[in-house]
Amino acid sequence: MLTRRTLLGSTSMAAAMMVMPKIGLSDTASGAGAFEMRAIPSTGEKIPAIGMGTSGSFEVSPGSPEYDALKDVLKVFFDGGGTVIDTAPTYSNAEDVLGALLAEQNLRSKCWLATKLSGVSGREQGLEQFNQSLKRLKTDKVELLQVHNLRDTETQLALANELKKEGKVRYVGLTHYVESAHDELADLVAKLKPDFLQINYSVTTRGAEKRVLPEARDKGVAVMINRAFNDGKLFAQVKDKQLPAWAAEAGVTSWAQAFLKFVISNPAVTVVIPATGKPNRQADNLLAGKGATLSEDQRKSLVEIVG
Ligand SMILES: NC(=O)c1ccc[n+]([C@@H]2O[C@H](COP(=O)([O-])OP(=O)(O)OC[C@H]3O[C@@H](n4cnc5c(N)ncnc54)[C@H](OP(=O)(O)O)[C@@H]3O)[C@@H](O)[C@H]2O)c1
Repeated sequence: MLTRRTLLGSTSMAAAMMVMPKIGLSDTASGAGAFEMRAIPSTGEKIPAIGMGTSGSFEVSPGSPEYDALKDVLKVFFDGGGTVIDTAPTYSNAEDVLGALLAEQNLRSKCWLATKLSGVSGREQGLEQFNQSLKRLKTDKVELLQVHNLRDTETQLALANELKKEGKVRYVGLTHYVESAHDELADLVAKLKPDFLQINYSVTTRGAEKRVLPEARDKGVAVMINRAFNDGKLFAQVKDKQLPAWAAEAGVTSWAQAFLKFVISNPAVTVVIPATGKPNRQADNLLAGKGATLSEDQRKSLVEIVG
């Protein structure tokens, strides 16, 4: 199956394989120390700062080795204290795969589930898509419903708010994945004040720092971060580099942890959703939710090193 991520990631992932630290499934975030939790401003509910995405990683065939690996990915995630999982009806079969795996292992009650209204126009199409999402995810409600990629935004957000009043959705949000959308999103955050905003942000793509992250913080809007590894490209950029000298002091034992800690060290960020289909990488990603976040000097040093 050819997905956006397989197209973007093949070169960078080959590089990433070469720098992958030796992290085993036992090295999960369930060990000593508290897991980083962040409050959703609109309610005060706390969620873990490390979540997971499903684009690419959950777009697999049922019964394939990749599908079986996802059972361990989810086990590591929930055992390690994760709860937040983001998906979308337009990630080919990701909602079906996630829904089947959560149901099979009786995990729905542990999951803080986010999906989207994506690529639809008008209330009827939006409602039809949402009802399909519930079926595919094998659930009767989701924690977060996000209007994807600024498509038919006001109508779809009104629908999401209607579903929230009916109790089928607990929070509503807006999402995008490129920096060129950030100015429009900053305006919409001020105008519409959704519960959540989902945007891209990473060590090398820091445009969100200019307007949209400060606006969200100011207006009390929770922020979910996608593409924290810039689709995996960050690993290629550090393939011949040592971890920073301050890594041990910051409790960082891999580049993935450094990149994720960079993101959650921004005070406007509520949760980051790295995606992987590999259980050992899931364990690695969760470790970024342990220990201190990065200081301003450590963040600046990371930007200089990664370039
Ligand atoms: N709202 C939107 O418009 C939008 C757009 C894009 C994404 N998203 C959401 O955000 C999520 C994350 O974004 P993304 O998946 O595009 O990009 P990403 O998280 O920046 O990068 C994913 C890539 O990093 C690799 N990876 C993950 N953990 C790793 C680790 N510990 N060590 C080395 N490599 C690792 C993955 O490969 P393996 O799977 O091979 O490990 C994959 O190639 C998506 O899944 C989706 O839920 C939303």
